Amino acid sequence: MLADVIDLLVCPHCGADLDVEDRTLLCDRGHSFDVARQGYVSLQPGSAGKITGDSPDMIAARTAFLSTGHFDRVSGALVDAVGARRNVLEIGVGSGHYLAAVLDRTGGRGIGIDVSKAAARRAAQAHPAIGSVVADVWNGLPVRSGSLDAITCVFSPRNAAESRRVLAPGGRLVVVTPTVRHQQELIGELGLIGVDEDKARRLGDSLSGGFDQVGRTTVEYRMELTHAEVGSLVGMGPSVRHTTEADRRAAIESLPEPVVVTASVVVGTYERRASAAE
Ligand SMILES: C[S@@+](CC[C@H](N)C(=O)[O-])C[C@H]1O[C@@H](n2cnc3c(N)ncnc32)[C@H](O)[C@@H]1O
Ligand SMILES: [Zn+2]
Repeated sequence: MLADVIDLLVCPHCGADLDVEDRTLLCDRGHSFDVARQGYVSLQPGSAGKITGDSPDMIAARTAFLSTGHFDRVSGALVDAVGARRNVLEIGVGSGHYLAAVLDRTGGRGIGIDVSKAAARRAAQAHPAIGSVVADVWNGLPVRSGSLDAITCVFSPRNAAESRRVLAPGGRLVVVTPTVRHQQELIGELGLIGVDEDKARRLGDSLSGGFDQVGRTTVEYRMELTHAEVGSLVGMGPSVRHTTEADRRAAIESLPEPVVVTASVVVGTYERRASAAE
């Protein structure tokens, strides 16, 4: 709940502390933010920007796919990388599945940030210790400087400078990114958007000033999926924006069942440096 993480959040307009009163978050300079019926709050500095994030259908597909357990080995590696750190933020929290797994292990509390209202709605329900917030990571994080023990980014955008600001010294940033082999069979068969080979290098470059890499684990395995599961997997990804549901369904139905799909991700663990290198 938001009340559990209120001391970690700050006003997106002026950076002051926030308090919860009834169903409103208030700063002492008079800025106020209504808590939605579903338990999340929007902490955006101005009117919502152009980025709206994942749609309700994409979040429903994500919830359905993650509940099958096929990505449990990914979440296991993420949970191991976070370790016992108790004040955790997930950026691009989606349905809240991974943050809930982290909190189940640590017994700590978590902020879930996503620019998508559909995601925030779902994340608010994913675990009692999640405070769910709508914010665009590129507009800065409405989070107190130096307050967090860990940040996780799972298939989602990262803001290295802001992540460094809100982590305590020695705090951990855990980043899960797909390798070029992730879902390669579907990329070939269904014409999905592939993984950019340059991604890993760009990630290293963007973090190199303020973080030291302390761990790197590749998690790669073979999944056997039903057509319905492939439908959810495709429906939660970016390719969904470029195809119609009918075309996707027809293409999936033409695949032999079960559909063998590779899961392949890198879990990179970075520690916040005490002082940023030039
Ligand atoms: C590929 S999904 C991953 C969701 C979740 N981490 C998971 O793996 O299940 C990327 C998420 O990042 C969110 N997102 C995209 N751009 C964002 C931004 N600028 N600020 C915050 N969240 C963003 C999307 O709405 C979406 O929920
Ligand atoms: Zn304020």
